[in-house]
Amino acid sequence: MRIAVIGSGYVGLVSGACFSEFGVEVICVDNDAAKIARLQRGEIPIFEPGLDQVVQTNVANGRLRFATDLGTAVEGADAVFIAVGTPSRRGDGHADLSYVFAAAEEIAKTVKDYTVVVTKSTVPVGTGRKVAEVLRKRLPESKFDVVSNPEFLREGSAIEDFMRPDRVVIGTDSERAAGVMRELYRPLSLIEKPILFTSLETAELIKYAANSFLATKITFINQIADLCENVGADVQDVARGIGLDGRIGRKFLHAGPGFGGSCFPKDCLALVKTAQEASAPLTIVETVVASNDSRKQHMAERIIQACGGSVKAKTIAVLGLTFKPNTDDMRDSPSLAIVPALQQAGATIRAFDPEGMSEAKKQLTGITFCSGSYETMEGAHALVIVTEWNEFRALDLDRVKSLLKTPTIIDLRNIYKPADMAEAGFHYFSIGRGAAAPVRQRLQAKS
Ligand code: UGA
Repeated sequence: MRIAVIGSGYVGLVSGACFSEFGVEVICVDNDAAKIARLQRGEIPIFEPGLDQVVQTNVANGRLRFATDLGTAVEGADAVFIAVGTPSRRGDGHADLSYVFAAAEEIAKTVKDYTVVVTKSTVPVGTGRKVAEVLRKRLPESKFDVVSNPEFLREGSAIEDFMRPDRVVIGTDSERAAGVMRELYRPLSLIEKPILFTSLETAELIKYAANSFLATKITFINQIADLCENVGADVQDVARGIGLDGRIGRKFLHAGPGFGGSCFPKDCLALVKTAQEASAPLTIVETVVASNDSRKQHMAERIIQACGGSVKAKTIAVLGLTFKPNTDDMRDSPSLAIVPALQQAGATIRAFDPEGMSEAKKQLTGITFCSGSYETMEGAHALVIVTEWNEFRALDLDRVKSLLKTPTIIDLRNIYKPADMAEAGFHYFSIGRGAAAPVRQRLQAKS
């Protein structure tokens, strides 16, 4: 089989590379000539564990190619995947679909034989039908079918998520298109991964419902964490206590500084808009969006309180800037709210991230960027852990103490144990754990 993937960003590149690993002949297309040139040289423009290996192997065996010319890629392809960006449109929160429709126009100009046009980009309900309308303007019905095939890849474990997904969702009304998709995903049905066939609209909604549900789960546990602090409970035990109930499940119950990334914030907003327009408001998701936004802001306040109520003329060491570990992605990262708020309150920031530094340098200003964890702490009044990279999990606590001016650690990801930190002589603040309760009470008594 042969496919073309339009858009060699995160989703397109990972999907294209993984399909080639399944034995499919793949051409990944992008109109960014510099990006394609880099890929042709074997350079991977994003940080994603394992992706370089999959790309290298399949480029070498000739199954994976990169091109700027959409025409040659689409010609003769059994299926064309649209995997271009759908950023939040400025002002109204709607997903910007202009790149999707532009890709559909281009495909329509090129298709000669029957081709399945697959939307892989996250697109609002109804987009598949609109893509079909665009195609219909130039092509007879018999030459194409449109399929929605949403992706459920997590940054940092995208290869594993593609190769061993919980499920594959395929939305289409056409048996013929379903057959092509079934064939493409055959390696997954061989390992008994569920492949769910639905209507176009249902598949589109599944994607948004999944992300919004996960975002809701996180927001729920974050609000429970706040409650834990006020009543002296421990959020990690609460998460375990409820998560062991099979109906709830343990995943996505880690309290933290609020969710970020290129998906949850954008997709929650887009679903809220769709629901409002369809006269079925999703007030739960509206609350999730508002709560998560204010939580990120609130984190800076919490750090300031932990530093004795003021960070004026103090130096704060920040470890972790990306929205989560194992990625270089800074989009909607909590650090982008926390760091500027601390600077505004008069703090000087020293920061380090294992992979996010070059992106961080574009988005955060007035910071001293350091080349490692310990260098970041030199002379700082407090250490803040914003992202739970593995290398921050086993810091040499004696060394940390000797480098910090005052032994204060604010751990926004709960990667250390309060008892261990107390024993090591730190003033340790974390999220929603009993140990934080007396501090909160003390702070409240002060105000
Ligand atoms: C998310 C979904 O998990 C994927 O299934 C989906 O395909 C993807 O969006 C997408 O739509 O493309 P991703 O954004 O890469 O993947 O990252 P997640 O691992 O889901 O984390 C998102 C955010 O939630 C991060 O900021 C993370 O720190 C936060 N999070 C996650 C928590 O605060 N607590 C948790 O328990 C889990």
